[in-house]
Amino acid sequence: MSEKIYNIAVIPGDGIGPEVTSSAVSVLKAVSEKFGFKLNFSEYKAGGCAIDEFGIPLPEATLEGCKASDAVLLGAVGGPKWDKVDASLRPEKALLGLRAGLGLYSNLRPALLFEELSSASPLKNVSNIDILIVRELTGGIYFGEHGRYMSEDVLSDGSSKGTVAFDTESYSEAEIERIVREGFRYAAGREKKLTLVDKANVLESSRLWREVAEKIAPEYPEVSLDYLYVDNCSMQLINRPETFDVIVTSNMFGDILSDEAGMITGSIGMLPSASLGAPGTPGMYEPVHGSAPDIAGTGKANPMATILSAAMLLRWSLDETKAADCIEAAVKQVLKDGYRTADISSSHDDKTINTESMTLKILESI
Ligand code: IPM
Ligand code: MG
Repeated sequence: MSEKIYNIAVIPGDGIGPEVTSSAVSVLKAVSEKFGFKLNFSEYKAGGCAIDEFGIPLPEATLEGCKASDAVLLGAVGGPKWDKVDASLRPEKALLGLRAGLGLYSNLRPALLFEELSSASPLKNVSNIDILIVRELTGGIYFGEHGRYMSEDVLSDGSSKGTVAFDTESYSEAEIERIVREGFRYAAGREKKLTLVDKANVLESSRLWREVAEKIAPEYPEVSLDYLYVDNCSMQLINRPETFDVIVTSNMFGDILSDEAGMITGSIGMLPSASLGAPGTPGMYEPVHGSAPDIAGTGKANPMATILSAAMLLRWSLDETKAADCIEAAVKQVLKDGYRTADISSSHDDKTINTESMTLKILESI
């Protein structure tokens, strides 16, 4: 059989992005040799570094390169350096442009508490947190109509409104259906519990989410479906995190809840993510954490979220399951051996190691 060859687009981005992606690329190279497939890496610019070089956050060549790849590995974009650029040119626009341009409507954000890291969780006596957040990624308020206008109206106290700004939360049945179906599918392959998180006591769009979920539920009789309002969900994630299995929710609620879920598992430095579109199109894989410009270049960055994102890339886009399992096992082994990066270390002894040493430890375990 001829050797399998995959093309991977790599977007290091800004801040610690280049450090953590270079760690993940070395891990990908190691497993590709071990499991007998070939990876061709092509690097592209997006985010602040693209603004500096080309004047725009998402150059055409980057989007085209990603579209032509089998999968995309992204570090992180943004930083205070670009805080003052025009809103239409902010580094974050690169992320939104990639999500929309690649049609990545399904964002998987697993929040898994590694046994060895339970002391890093801010919650007392927790174990067994294993939640998969399925976040809708190309619709809702992020992509609804935005704008500003001047209003002549007055408020109840008589003051005139002046400038009004608006962002619109809008979802079509088809958009809801495809993401809710994903939620059911993942739940069916896990603990068979799906929680739809919304604000159906207030929002019409949330009520449509519920109607669509009710309609799909009979196709997955083995999965139990329940509903939580997002405010209540944010409490229950603290109160009973171990009872959640799969959460499916809108773009903005998923953004907020995935940070919360990340926090209760100890460190955002451990959390990978996958953004997927239609079957057969390239997925994008990135750590949940940001570009952390304050620690860029210091060797303090935890490369594990990006390394685990690389494992997701192998699993979901390349179907190289054994290589993915191997990376995840190597990360677990290194944690078990007591090695920590500063963000997850409680002792700061000689097993607290920098980005490069952590990468080497994981490579040794592969
Ligand atoms: C995320 C981030 C992005 C989002 C920002 C950087 C645009 O917070 O991926 O969670 O809000 O989606
Ligand atoms: Mg976020």
